[in-house]
Amino acid sequence: MRLAILGGAAVLAASASQVPFHVYPEAWDLNVAPSINATGHLVFDTVSSFLQHWPNTRYRNGHSLVPGTVPVGTLLYHGRGDSNPEHSYMFCRGSAAAGCWHLTLVAVRPLRVLYFDGSSAGKNEKRPHGFSGYKEQRSLDLCAWGKPLGIDGFLREIILCDFTAGVEMVSMANLASAGWGIPGPGGPRRPPPGEPLDYTAPAVAEVILSGSWHNRYPGDRRIKLDLTQLISFYDTMLVPSLIPERFTDERWEHRLLGISPEDIAAVKRRLATFYTTPLTASSGVDWDTLFKVIVDRYDTRLEVVQYLLSTPEAPLASAKKAMKQFRVMLTPYILNSAVPAEQGNSWAAPVFAFCATSHTSHIRRNAFISEKLTDSEHLLLHAVEETNREICRVVVSMWAEGVLAGLDDSLPPPHLPVHDEGPSEALVQKWKSAVEGLMSWLDWSVWIKCRPECGFEEICYLPTWPFGRLKRPEGGEGRAGPPGRGFPMPDDPEILHPQPQCVRRFD
Ligand SMILES: *[C@@H]1O[C@H](CO)[C@@H](O)[C@H](O)[C@H]1NC(C)=O
Repeated sequence: MRLAILGGAAVLAASASQVPFHVYPEAWDLNVAPSINATGHLVFDTVSSFLQHWPNTRYRNGHSLVPGTVPVGTLLYHGRGDSNPEHSYMFCRGSAAAGCWHLTLVAVRPLRVLYFDGSSAGKNEKRPHGFSGYKEQRSLDLCAWGKPLGIDGFLREIILCDFTAGVEMVSMANLASAGWGIPGPGGPRRPPPGEPLDYTAPAVAEVILSGSWHNRYPGDRRIKLDLTQLISFYDTMLVPSLIPERFTDERWEHRLLGISPEDIAAVKRRLATFYTTPLTASSGVDWDTLFKVIVDRYDTRLEVVQYLLSTPEAPLASAKKAMKQFRVMLTPYILNSAVPAEQGNSWAAPVFAFCATSHTSHIRRNAFISEKLTDSEHLLLHAVEETNREICRVVVSMWAEGVLAGLDDSLPPPHLPVHDEGPSEALVQKWKSAVEGLMSWLDWSVWIKCRPECGFEEICYLPTWPFGRLKRPEGGEGRAGPPGRGFPMPDDPEILHPQPQCVRRFD
């Protein structure tokens, strides 16, 4: 048994040394950063964020369309098919005497849906009036477009196109009204002028809480997405017209405005082809898990390195601790053949190449996998490669510098180390900005959290439309929005650039 394992390891090591860096050494130059127009990291982060509330609250402008299914047995609530009764109940409005009507449906066959990422309720457009009417018209247009393709619905919250297709009524219940202060039958409507929603009502707090159940990976599992058919507006092959539109914009500002009619047509063609032709084979790669594996490998480790390099301590001590972390991250990739040379970092290129390709080189190497890749899977492959490559480039560069400075105890430097504070101080500053640069390029939402962590009586909340920033006055009373102000506009700075904050869970 042991021999078999050793044998397997030897085979793996042999093929590892055959990754393409021997053929294209210039491709593994540690000093070449990704293009300013690169979008692989943006595809990576948006895909890693699907069906999760937190990242899609942070970046509301969606950039992806993904075909998916809602499985048999999934309950849908209210006329608009919200998947959380806590959310749909907010729209259940009636007088205290009459109560309000709340509809529950269940999927009796798999519903074909199209998922939009971002957050639709908080769509970032300057439309202070006629907001709901606009949304309803857009839903009708979407349904009309999707009907010949057999699409049952669209979702951020689910827009169900036909209440008689594929669903059955579970109940139509006359519930006790929460007393929103808004008379009339159920139905999503904005409060009339001068009658703001009562933000302190417990039901409003429950909407925020129930949204937070799906804050983080894996998000809302009631919808099964088919990533092999993903469409991303960060796909520069499919949607080239947005490259100049995004140029020099911050990620908050990325949107679909300025997309060319040709690109819109290409996107619609791609979707129509998928819905109207029999399913083609895909590679079988579990992309969702692969993306998660990469995030898991590096999210906490990079956070730890950033912490170590920002904590005031003797530079030499900080540098040594950070160096240990680099080694931890790179252990599976530090090849015995990578022998430090006196100058530069090209001696570390094989480590870079091995690190950058180990998760995906098998896909490119095996024709029986790569031949089956769909266009969307090519995009996903490229996104993992580009993201992983940049992580490896930055970490290997720092590690190689540390080796030459004599900071890696297990690799002898090519010359005697000079352990004085001067070089270490410069090194710590350089590494700090390299790690921060990498983390801001990756821009993973897992790093956006309340610091310090919230207490049990609080929840960590990202300001969102329509609730806005929740006030937390000195008295400790957390409450939604300043009273009487009504909805914040979707383009309020607090909504555009939301920062996490602890708010009270109870009144
Ligand atoms: C990035 O895109 C802009 C806008 O299309 C273009 O002007 C610029 O040359 C591109 N830069 C690189 C390095 O590709």
